[in-house]
Amino acid sequence: MKDVREAVREFYTSAAETPKQGLCCPTAYDSEDTAHIPKDALQRAYGCGSPVSSAGLKKGEVVLDLGSGSGVDCFIASKKVGKEGRVIGVDMTDKMIELAEGYLEKVAENLGYRNVEFKKGYLEEIPLEDESVDVVISNCVINLSSDKERVMQEVYRVLKHRGRFCIADIVSEKDVPQSVRENPTLWGECIGGAIKEEDFINIARSAGAYGINIKSRTFYREVEGVRFNSVIITGYKFIKGKECVYRGHYAIYNGPFRSVRDDDGHEYPAGVPVEICTDTLEKLTNPPYAGMFTIITAEGETVVRGCVDETEGCC
Ligand SMILES: C[S@@+](CC[C@H](N)C(=O)[O-])C[C@H]1O[C@@H](n2cnc3c(N)ncnc32)[C@H](O)[C@@H]1O
Repeated sequence: MKDVREAVREFYTSAAETPKQGLCCPTAYDSEDTAHIPKDALQRAYGCGSPVSSAGLKKGEVVLDLGSGSGVDCFIASKKVGKEGRVIGVDMTDKMIELAEGYLEKVAENLGYRNVEFKKGYLEEIPLEDESVDVVISNCVINLSSDKERVMQEVYRVLKHRGRFCIADIVSEKDVPQSVRENPTLWGECIGGAIKEEDFINIARSAGAYGINIKSRTFYREVEGVRFNSVIITGYKFIKGKECVYRGHYAIYNGPFRSVRDDDGHEYPAGVPVEICTDTLEKLTNPPYAGMFTIITAEGETVVRGCVDETEGCC
């Protein structure tokens, strides 16, 4: 882990000093989202997607950006969550933290408020309290860690109940050959440390996340016969209630599949009322499942709750 970190830090110290064109996949941000951000910061953005645009951020939310680099995603989030929200960027590279902090004043002046801070730290030891964050975003960073299990456990730890993550990262379609893994340049370019998409999903699920969804998948590069894609992956945290009970609530899956199974193993054949506990009631009536089920409550009320738009957090 120490060697990987040192090689990655060296790589991104140099990328902070001099823009590296074409590093990761250049991300097209909505110009309205970036109008308040200095051009210099945008030239040093090394993401592979736009998780901050897909995260359905709401006013007042607390957002954590893991591997914040020059701060672009933090500054976009700053505008989206408004002055009542808060954004924290974490990065291990001094030069990146210095760079991002250097833009804080200009961004605050352009927005008329300041709600962003940058902290030096590791993805594997996030310098934040348990259950302190509504949304974790990360843009092309987790592939760079040699301990992705630990990173996802940390993401889960800092999320609040019903918090969510929205992560853009590079994944491979096949196992990555050892020669690619051991090439420090390819590791720095977000190739050497990439894992298969299914492995990423399994790691997130093992950390406790549910409702995991691949929102987009775009081809990035082919190296030694292996195709690498950029994906945006989302997932949720749920802390089970101490008093989860069956009270006579039922869920009817609305289709279009014949049947679905949730992360807790409950089966829902389409059109069939299935009795659910109070925790499941809470899960099925909120993102990402809201709108997929008709709920018949114990009181006989019928609820079809759907996501109205992105502001409901249906990232
Ligand atoms: C590919 S850049 C992406 C930066 C930013 N997210 C963006 O979209 O421009 C990766 C960043 O993650 C940071 N990083 C890599 N591994 C890290 C780790 N284990 N802990 C903290 N930061 C890390 C690097 O210092 C670098 O700034």
